[in-house]
Amino acid sequence: MEKIVSLCKRRGFIFQSSEIYGGLASTWDYGPLGAELKRNLKEAWWRSNVFERDDVEGLDASILMHPSVWIASGHVSNFEDTLVECKSCNKRHKIESIGKDKKCPLCGGELTGAHQFNLMLKTNLGPVKSDLSVTYMRPETAQGIFVNFVNVVNSMRRKIPFGIAQIGKSFRNEVTTGNFTFRSREFEQMEIEFFVKPGTDEEWYHKWVDERFNWYTKFGIKKENLKKREHAKDELAHYAKACTDIEYNFPFGWSELEGIANRTDFDLKQHMKLSGQNLEYYDDETKERYVPYVIEPSGGIDRSILAFLVDSYREEKVKDQKRVSLAIHKALAPIKAAVLPLLRNRPEIVKLAKDITNDLKKSFKAMYDDTASIGRLYRRQDEIGTPYCITVDVDSLSDNKVTVRDRDTMIQDRIAVGMVKEFLAEKLK
Ligand code: GAP
Repeated sequence: MEKIVSLCKRRGFIFQSSEIYGGLASTWDYGPLGAELKRNLKEAWWRSNVFERDDVEGLDASILMHPSVWIASGHVSNFEDTLVECKSCNKRHKIESIGKDKKCPLCGGELTGAHQFNLMLKTNLGPVKSDLSVTYMRPETAQGIFVNFVNVVNSMRRKIPFGIAQIGKSFRNEVTTGNFTFRSREFEQMEIEFFVKPGTDEEWYHKWVDERFNWYTKFGIKKENLKKREHAKDELAHYAKACTDIEYNFPFGWSELEGIANRTDFDLKQHMKLSGQNLEYYDDETKERYVPYVIEPSGGIDRSILAFLVDSYREEKVKDQKRVSLAIHKALAPIKAAVLPLLRNRPEIVKLAKDITNDLKKSFKAMYDDTASIGRLYRRQDEIGTPYCITVDVDSLSDNKVTVRDRDTMIQDRIAVGMVKEFLAEKLK
């Protein structure tokens, strides 16, 4: 884990938020390469779930919602941790993390009695601070989908079964922090609420568990590092009838990457109650009217990024030298190709290398680098997971060919300059 955290900072993937002020606990900033990786991950998820399926629509709802949403959803009364506080060091702990001795796990001090702590972050809207102006930073993106269910059915003429997908920020005032980005106070979720006819929910639940498990392996996570774990009844969230977590074997142990829950008709019925609106679905073929059940695959962008980084990190010996590489899926790699001139004091070589870079930039993220020796440049690109390096050398000037090196096999191909773009487009598919 230390190696990943260090690589993330050193190479511009992830920085501590507000670092110059000593940092803000459990909040993180994605640097230049992290921002690219995150965009690619979201793009891959959206492509698989919205573009490539014909039964899912996309949505981008606001973070701030009417406060009644959170009363209806049960988050105001149920989204809580039970905490105890140490009388000596004043640190708060979740009751589950306290040992049999009932002492502070940090300093051994005496603990206070238990009290409830709501995980939602409160804020005020408008110029007057009062109970009426209170709302919350959403703790899940899901509610934005539920309140728009009828809008999407009507505007897109959708028939059940179908789903609504959304990617966006969520906020939780987490008590247990640590493990890098794994448990953050501001994070991004990728969620689908899939609306089905009651009675077909079990079948759809199992389909989505498999679908989501396979998505992670499709993008390169090793199967042996993933497992499915079904929740025991007493672990289920207040809205769920069943839930399976997809867990990843993080360096700190098996932990949740994504949860797939059967949320039943809980949320839609609650919103019907509080809003007074009819959110039923009318099936004009069977002439039935019902409140759909919902299957919810809910994953975290930040946890996925961490899993993809950990899973692709490699250390090996090549010609007696340590080689560090990120064998990350090409679709996720922040930079797809780096163009490296072998001699930076030869203007013709530099010009050719820059022309190739500019041409590649029209198709994907490519970069030019001449700031070190070729060995060093390769090492830098390997460490950030760039799948292809293109070297321009003296011979390139006469044979009009360049060398394309594959990150994982380190095999080098000599390719005509005019064919590089096509060659890479094929490889990056
Ligand atoms: N709408 C359902 C829901 O929010 P959840 O299990 O609380 O369910 C879903 O969260 C996913 O969101 C988790 O599997 C995880 O990937 C991500 N997530 C939740 N809390 C997080 C946190 N504090 N930091 C980073 N990711 C988090």
